[in-house]
Amino acid sequence: MMNKEMVLKPTRIINPAYRFSVAPMLDCSDSHFRVLMRQISRRALLYTEMVVANALFHSNRKGNLLDFTPIEKPISLQIGGDDPKLLFEAGKFAKDWGYDEINLNVGCPSQRVKSGNFGACLMANPDQVARCVEAMATGSQLPVTVKHRIGIDNLDSDKLLKQFVNRVASAGAERFVVHARKAWLEGLNPKQNRTIPPLQYDRVAKLKRSCPDLIIELNGGLNTPIDCIKALETFDGAMVGRAAYSHPLRWQQIDEIIFGDQPRCIRASEVIRGLIPHTQNHLNKNGKIWDICRHVIQLVEGVPGARLWRREFCRNAQTAKRDINILEEAARKLEDKGL
Ligand SMILES: Cc1cc2nc3c(=O)[nH]c(=O)nc-3n(C[C@H](O)[C@H](O)[C@H](O)COP(=O)(O)O)c2cc1C
Repeated sequence: MMNKEMVLKPTRIINPAYRFSVAPMLDCSDSHFRVLMRQISRRALLYTEMVVANALFHSNRKGNLLDFTPIEKPISLQIGGDDPKLLFEAGKFAKDWGYDEINLNVGCPSQRVKSGNFGACLMANPDQVARCVEAMATGSQLPVTVKHRIGIDNLDSDKLLKQFVNRVASAGAERFVVHARKAWLEGLNPKQNRTIPPLQYDRVAKLKRSCPDLIIELNGGLNTPIDCIKALETFDGAMVGRAAYSHPLRWQQIDEIIFGDQPRCIRASEVIRGLIPHTQNHLNKNGKIWDICRHVIQLVEGVPGARLWRREFCRNAQTAKRDINILEEAARKLEDKGL
């Protein structure tokens, strides 16, 4: 028989990784940033930058596009494309490289992407997205997920959104990450398309209510862990982009509050030290130290002397090229200040 004490004892919450994820971001969410985020959350689902299926298929440097280190898992490979044959091949690569899942980009509004007929413009063609998803699932044998907008241009109603999601789910998509903004494919650039169309969480909530069995994650404008906790009252997952990139340490309690892990105190100096083995490997492969340091800068903010530290760190990292001591020294200086 259970007594009261046993009932009140905290239990570990088992939550799938997608409850909190770090968004795909071109030029930001590369392997180095993901290793940095992994020092902060052991549980979050991390996305790659978008890899274009066509480029992947024709490249003889696939390793550059696909390699990651085991510490980055769980990890989702995001692919951009509209050709089921190429997406089938991308799926095979995802499996061979050891990704946990594969995601189709149906949210990017850039002109380049639009002229390739993929990204957000595919929202106008749910049947094509369904064919893409089927091909990715067959090629990869992995969970296939789709990241999309609430609408594009004048195709922007609850009815169309629901039809899109249902059609794509029937083709085997396991989850949907909804960036809660529409995209204007004419007249706005990608940056404007992340700020000007208003966030409409209510539209995504309506979608979830009308398709309760589908796994729907919310993305867009989630700036703090509290925002995510609130989002999880309605949605199955919370995806964070810019606020994770610009303020990585803001998320240091995420494993505790979302995944029920033991509290950990994570200091900037520890994150930097945690990056040293990865950096050494990168340098051994002829990489530059700046490739890692450019992400590290964001770790120090909101404390006295932060600006100075960042300026000095940038200067040292840009001139050091291959000197790993830069990171050791930076960590030591922060540690002296208790950071
Ligand atoms: C620099 C940058 C690059 C991005 N690249 C991608 C991308 O490759 N694929 C994608 O689906 N979304 C991309 N996005 C969009 C984000 O994944 C996310 O949907 C958007 O920033 C809204 O979330 P946020 O408000 O939490 O940043 C990018 C966003 C930024 C800021």
